[in-house]
Order: sequence, then structure tokens, then C-alpha cells
Amino acid sequence: MSEADAARMEASLTAVADAGIDIRHALFDRFFAAFPERRASFMVVDASSRRMTDETLQMMFGLAKREGWVWPLVAELVFTHRAYGPLPIAEYDAFIDMTVAELGAAAGGTWSSETATAWQRHADALKAMIRRARAEWESAMPVGAPQPAE
Ligand code: HEM
Repeated sequence: MSEADAARMEASLTAVADAGIDIRHALFDRFFAAFPERRASFMVVDASSRRMTDETLQMMFGLAKREGWVWPLVAELVFTHRAYGPLPIAEYDAFIDMTVAELGAAAGGTWSSETATAWQRHADALKAMIRRARAEWESAMPVGAPQPAE
């Protein structure tokens, strides 16, 4: 299952790269339209939008490939993001779902229901991992940890 998912996911990443589409622009427009009050948290959208988009895609693809580096990267992400203020878990969920949706929009004809299912499976795994990382920081370092998962 996971190998087939990874192959489908890689094909859509390649299709979007071949089409020369940089999904971060539409993704961040959509994210800020949904959460306008979050716009002020970003000092350098151009730099952050590259890294947030790339790393979100890499984490989902890494989960499909069962890569061991995903967990430490997610744990670090959740910890460093505490510097940006209290970020509701719903915004993480929305950002991940919007990343998949924008990739699908950019992939055009190469996007199938199987491709969507593959991305969604690992999007959901990433959301669960973010919740776990927030809960573990909360219990390990109650003072200064990212806010509780809910
Ligand atoms: C899986 C989801 C996410 C990933 C992988 C991710 C990754 C990143 C990375 C790599 C950076 C750049 C850090 C640096 O250059 O030092 C960053 C910055 C940032 N992220 Fe995220 N992020 C995610 C979700 C979110 C969400 C949901 C929010 C808001 C609700 C958010 C808010 C920010 C802010 C405010 C910055 C700093 C921007 C700036 O100073 O310009 N991130 N993120």
C-alpha cells in the first residue's frame, strides 16, 4: 500500500514540477484568505512559503516511504513554531489539506482518485504526528511548550 502510494505521489510531484507550477503562491493566498489574522505572523512570506510548502510535501512523501527522519523533523517543527505564537491545531490541519488540494489542482490530468487517496492517507498521518509531537512536548516541557493539542 505504502509503496504504491509513494509511486503515485511521486508521479504527481513530477507532473507539477514538469508543468513548472510553484504551488506555494496559490497555497499561501488560500491559507491567508482562510486565516487573515495569521498573515501578520509572517515576516518573510517569500522565504517561509518555500520552506513550509516543500517540507509539508516532503513529510507526507517521507511518511509514504516510511522514512525514519519524518518524526524528528515533525518534533522539531512543532517546537520551533512555538516562536510564532499559539498556532491552533486546526490551522495545521487546514494547511496540510490545502497543500494536497493545490497539488491536485496543479497536477491536472495526472491526478486520479487513487492519487488523491494516497496523499490523503499520509496527510492524515502527518496531522496525527503533529498532534503527538505537541502532546509529547507538552508533557516533557510544560513551561514554554507549544500549546496543547486541542
Ligand atoms: C506541516 C506544516 C508546516 C510545516 C512543514 C512548516 C514549516 C515551516 C518552515 C520550514 C518554516 C521556516 C523556518 C525558518 O526558515 O527558520 C516555517 C515558518 C513559519 N511557519 Fe510554518 N510550517 C507548517 C505549518 C504552519 C502553520 C499551520 C502555520 C500557521 C498557522 C505556520 C506558521 C509559520 C510562521 C508564522 C513562520 C515564520 C514566518 C516568517 O517569519 O516569515 N506554519 N514553517
